[in-house]
Amino acid sequence: MFSHQVLVVGGGLAGLRAAIEAHDRGVDVAILSLVHPLRSHSGAAQGGVNAALGNAEEGKDDSPERHAYDTVKGSDFLADQDAVEEMTNDTPERIYEMEHWGCPFSRNPDGTIAQRPFGGGAFPRTCYGSDKTGHYMLHTLYEQTIKRGIRVYAEWTVLSIVVQDDLVNGLVALHMPTGQVEGFTAPAVIMATGGAGRIYSQSTNAIINTGSGIALAYMAGALLKDMEFVQFHPTCLYPTNILITEGARGEGGYLVNNRGERFMKDYAPTAMELAPRDIVSRSIRTEIAQGRAFEDVYVHLDLRHLGQEIILERLPGIRDIAMHFAGVDPVKQPIPVLPAQHYTMGGIGTDSWGQTPLNGLFAAGECACVSVHGANRLGGNSLLETVVFGQRAGVRVSEWVKGNGAANPARVESALGASNQRLEELIAGKGEEDPCLIRQEMGEVMMEKVGIFRHRDEMEEAIAKLRELQQRLAHTRPLYGGKRFNLDLLRTYELGGLLLVAEVIAHGALVREESRGSHSRRDFETRDDQDWMKHTLAHFTPEVPRFSFSPVSITKWQPEARKY
Ligand code: FUM
Repeated sequence: MFSHQVLVVGGGLAGLRAAIEAHDRGVDVAILSLVHPLRSHSGAAQGGVNAALGNAEEGKDDSPERHAYDTVKGSDFLADQDAVEEMTNDTPERIYEMEHWGCPFSRNPDGTIAQRPFGGGAFPRTCYGSDKTGHYMLHTLYEQTIKRGIRVYAEWTVLSIVVQDDLVNGLVALHMPTGQVEGFTAPAVIMATGGAGRIYSQSTNAIINTGSGIALAYMAGALLKDMEFVQFHPTCLYPTNILITEGARGEGGYLVNNRGERFMKDYAPTAMELAPRDIVSRSIRTEIAQGRAFEDVYVHLDLRHLGQEIILERLPGIRDIAMHFAGVDPVKQPIPVLPAQHYTMGGIGTDSWGQTPLNGLFAAGECACVSVHGANRLGGNSLLETVVFGQRAGVRVSEWVKGNGAANPARVESALGASNQRLEELIAGKGEEDPCLIRQEMGEVMMEKVGIFRHRDEMEEAIAKLRELQQRLAHTRPLYGGKRFNLDLLRTYELGGLLLVAEVIAHGALVREESRGSHSRRDFETRDDQDWMKHTLAHFTPEVPRFSFSPVSITKWQPEARKY
């Protein structure tokens, strides 16, 4: 049994930033990470991180308040405005802190951090490190973690969060290289496990972004907030779904259909390619559905007019990806792109300090829902969220552990026994079902029936299918019994939780009878502020999820029509 004051689950940006803060406040904190922290999905973030620094010539009038307004409007007025303002006010300090810790942002000739335009922003506000911003930020925070000697348990996968009487006692986790299952006691746990992208069959997310952390918190009693809001990034490489950064459009890239038209003029005549993602993704899907796509599947992202010098300096990673995975050189050819799942707007419901209603359970980053993204996140606000709310969770968790007692090891011991038993049951198996097939069918039904455009009939079909998959999961075939790096075993272990999360997404989408941001219903085509200006909160029950609702905080900006 290991023991710490705070356990951070997840070694990406939010987890590292939270751990650094807790450590600096004198707390014994450790990080458990499924992969080595430098392989976390944060490292795949490309285009940048928003901050109202006003460094660009056209951005001199930018301010945290203007950043907040753009975020609220981008969210289709579902974001909690008090939380958004807290985020944008904290932002400059967090970005300059990253700069002082050595993050190699791209620079203007005067030495200030360079900023590029991103969708839905009034000014060039997105700080970047060419097209590898997440990678640079991740290395910067990892260095700070190592410098402080913070304990990192790498390649440990968490099997359960130990909660009894609404009180956190720690975790049970499996060390993948050895197969050792261990208990970890702590009075506080911060979930920083990223999003649930891989619940969809077509996603920009890494294989590890299954949503298992969200599922663990849900099953432990946390509420899942606004899970029906799923972001589809407009420009993902055909056919592999690898992210092609919004920065490519920020630098001036065009979206073109098979008639050679910049079709965004028909959907967002002012913002064009830099409309928010929900709008651009729907526009591309409409072009595809109406026969204006190439090979009936994709549109073109054309960067050729930017010229070789800009592409090599600001988008070198995109060029590499396009060349290696689609065989096109963006200097000479357009890139084939289409929308794919990219980001989970909903998540574990928290306040703006990362605290959930469960005593000792915190969450930060994509797995959490504060809510600052509402129904649609602006590109560049995700990296921002990790450092702002990671830091805030670190502050609050430190106060929490100093004021609360130790965890109860007996409770962790008993959860350890239950997890071991579940693993043994899966290894023994009594049926013929292939868990990989169940996972694949889950991804396909979510993609087809709970995707960009939604309708009651299709969502009901999806829910019925998810129920069927849950039943089939009880009859999986025996699995290879070794516990060392047995990914088959781990994937099967987590699958029940993923099906629950998928069900929450589908049920939430069915319950919300309006169209708002990324949630676009063919049977309820308009936003309904009268009845639906509220958050959904899913409560775990052994049957279907139960929903309650909470109000949206409005500080300065009344809902208005969203025009771009
Ligand atoms: O397009 C991108 O570079 C992604 C950024 C984001 O999701 O914030």
